[in-house]
Amino acid sequence: MKTDVSKIETNKRLGIGLLGYGTVGKGLETLLEATASDAFFIAKILRRATKANRHDMVEDIDSLLKDPSVDIVVEVLGGIEPARSYVLAALKAKKAVVTANKALINRHGDELDACAKANGVALRFSAAVGGGIPYLATLLEVKRHTQIQAIGGILNGTSNFMLDKMEREQCAFEEALRAAQQLGYAEADPSADILGTDSLNKIRLSGVVAFDRWIEFESIPCEGIAYLQAEDIQFIQNLGYHIRLFATMCRSEDGIQAYVEPQLFNVEDAEASILANHNIAWFVDSMGERQALIGQGAGGLPTAGNILRDLMQIKEKTGGMLPEGHTKLVANNTKAIHQYLIRSSKNLKSGYLEALSEVKWIQGNRIYRITKAMDVSRIHALVQTLRATEPIFFAGIQTKETL
Ligand SMILES: NC(=O)c1ccc[n+]([C@@H]2O[C@H](COP(=O)([O-])OP(=O)(O)OC[C@H]3O[C@@H](n4cnc5c(N)ncnc54)[C@H](OP(=O)(O)O)[C@@H]3O)[C@@H](O)[C@H]2O)c1
Repeated sequence: MKTDVSKIETNKRLGIGLLGYGTVGKGLETLLEATASDAFFIAKILRRATKANRHDMVEDIDSLLKDPSVDIVVEVLGGIEPARSYVLAALKAKKAVVTANKALINRHGDELDACAKANGVALRFSAAVGGGIPYLATLLEVKRHTQIQAIGGILNGTSNFMLDKMEREQCAFEEALRAAQQLGYAEADPSADILGTDSLNKIRLSGVVAFDRWIEFESIPCEGIAYLQAEDIQFIQNLGYHIRLFATMCRSEDGIQAYVEPQLFNVEDAEASILANHNIAWFVDSMGERQALIGQGAGGLPTAGNILRDLMQIKEKTGGMLPEGHTKLVANNTKAIHQYLIRSSKNLKSGYLEALSEVKWIQGNRIYRITKAMDVSRIHALVQTLRATEPIFFAGIQTKETL
């Protein structure tokens, strides 16, 4: 995976061309200032037209890339375009690139990595998963000496903050979301956090690093927390569980299982103790041992920490992060089997759902059911069908077999 980054001079202080001056961009600036970095400095910052109000700010990508003081480009704009075009232009200008953009690498990682390799520079994206947690870097290191069997955890800090707040303060979903937005955890459009797609992007990206396979998006069942209500939390707590948004991918005899869904955890499970906007990101090694990293899954400064790690790797000529010769694969969840909690209204008539239920409780107009153990893809598909009638909530029940 070594890339010839011959353009990088290792013995000089390297200039960064910073694309994006928001939460993470400012975090990187603060981190470099606070640590008085003798390895890197911000040489130029790309701002939108009319916002370039400092001598080191520019309004167009060409002048940033042509600036001789820019050695490495850091992309923290977010979104697909113009981030993709700017990163391609940087790589073609033979600048190594560090990005925190999980959506961009998920959609265009192969194209960008090929361009990086063709130009003899590195493309790195450690900050795209886990915020400040060195998760992808750890996976890369660990797989050098063991075959990773499974990866997963709580990878979305915003939803974790909301679930924890709803549990501890018995507040409504909307109030928890408002608090997450006020604290800058959730964006104005929080759909990627609450629909699970942020977790999906992160587990898929972790999967290509751990297993050398891009798992096809459409084959990964993905459910977020958008259908959860305060009454559900109370019911779950009365059962003795904590609810967390869980993402996982693991090897099985039939290929690779992968899914994202809310899950109920017992109090002794590590996931249950993850509070506020923290993440837990774990892997299982070839001996079946689970190792976990816990920390700030988001925020300007923590995320800048992962960016700085990538910058150091580039300075040390470590190369890029996408594995050589990785391939594509469809997830196979036929052996990913566990029980589910499903909440519907009393009005919902589904003989199929009734037949699947092992236990049920009637609470006012709501019915809570615990199903027989069933495969993940089947229950996700069933709920999508039933949602044509009403907004059902469901969550997996964590068992030892889940992991
Ligand atoms: N925030 C986190 O905790 C976190 C953690 C891990 C990864 N990430 C990833 O890091 C990236 C940045 O996230 P963020 O939270 O820093 O976003 P953000 O606060 O919204 O900042 C994005 C910055 O990019 C600027 N920008 C966007 N399009 C631009 C354009 N065409 N030209 C010039 N400037 C442009 C924005 O400028 P305006 O202010 O003028 O709009 C803003 O300053 C995303 O890919 C995100 O997924 C974020």
